[in-house]
Amino acid sequence: MNFHPHHCCALITGASSGLGAEFARQLAPTAQALFLTGRRAEALESVKAQCLALNPSLNIHLCACDIATDEGRGLLLETIRHSTFRPHLWINNAGMGDYGTVATADPAKLRAQIDLNITALVLLTHASLPLLQRPGGIVNVSSLASTLPLPAMAVYAASKAFVTSFSEALAVELAPAHITVTCVCPGPTPTSFSQTARRPQGEDTDRGGQDFLRIPPAQVVSEALAALRAGRACVYPGVGVSLAARLFHHLPRFLLRPLLRQRFAKGTI
Ligand SMILES: NC(=O)c1ccc[n+]([C@@H]2O[C@H](COP(=O)([O-])OP(=O)(O)OC[C@H]3O[C@@H](n4cnc5c(N)ncnc54)[C@H](OP(=O)(O)O)[C@@H]3O)[C@@H](O)[C@H]2O)c1
Repeated sequence: MNFHPHHCCALITGASSGLGAEFARQLAPTAQALFLTGRRAEALESVKAQCLALNPSLNIHLCACDIATDEGRGLLLETIRHSTFRPHLWINNAGMGDYGTVATADPAKLRAQIDLNITALVLLTHASLPLLQRPGGIVNVSSLASTLPLPAMAVYAASKAFVTSFSEALAVELAPAHITVTCVCPGPTPTSFSQTARRPQGEDTDRGGQDFLRIPPAQVVSEALAALRAGRACVYPGVGVSLAARLFHHLPRFLLRPLLRQRFAKGTI
């Protein structure tokens, strides 16, 4: 039985900007209720206003909290339990990266990526299971970076490889419980992601040659929701990203390694 997000109650992490805000806007016209979370209360209010403009009868709950911490996740879960909101769809979208080598990294930023991209996603998924109505859905936002070991984004790419593997296993575990799990692996998408990933004195990334991979957030989200409706375990939105993922999956490691070394030497991420 495939999950259809029509008339659903959906929770979205990282809903204050980028892909999370776009998930909220695309679900708003037909959803019953949305639960939006992120750390910035004002940005959440602004996304709420955009969603209400699309559907004035939509029920919208907000919770400003840091889900990378036990306290923040506790606050989120308590807020849900004390509300009337019962999710059909849980979107683990919040995530962050760090541009630069491991040797030169701020250990706090290395840890922040693991706490948010891995720990928060796993623990919130676990906590969502007794709350999810059936049939239900879980969308985990991974990355095209999950298909490659990426020098100068090593922890980020490894954290997203975790998300993809975790999601594929979960899709099998939860199918008998009528919960569809879809993992979304976007390529480079224009959001605030680069701004957060850039280091204080760090240079911007050289994105030369990546134009064929870049699609707008609206297309990433519409392809993600289409994949969820179709019951697909994994989707690489955009033709370029989908072709690149196939290539990276099939490229032998002995050919991949010199290519990665060459790109790293050129300073291209
Ligand atoms: N853009 C890309 O090129 C790209 C490519 C592949 C995958 N992705 C993935 O797409 C997802 C969404 O990223 P985006 O591109 O939309 O970037 P974004 O615009 O920077 O959005 C990140 C979201 O995560 C929230 N967030 C960050 N740290 C948080 C924390 N500790 N607690 C709670 N919320 C937190 C942010 O809200 P607050 O700041 O308000 O907390 C924001 O809403 C991420 O998982 C990212 O890895 C992005």
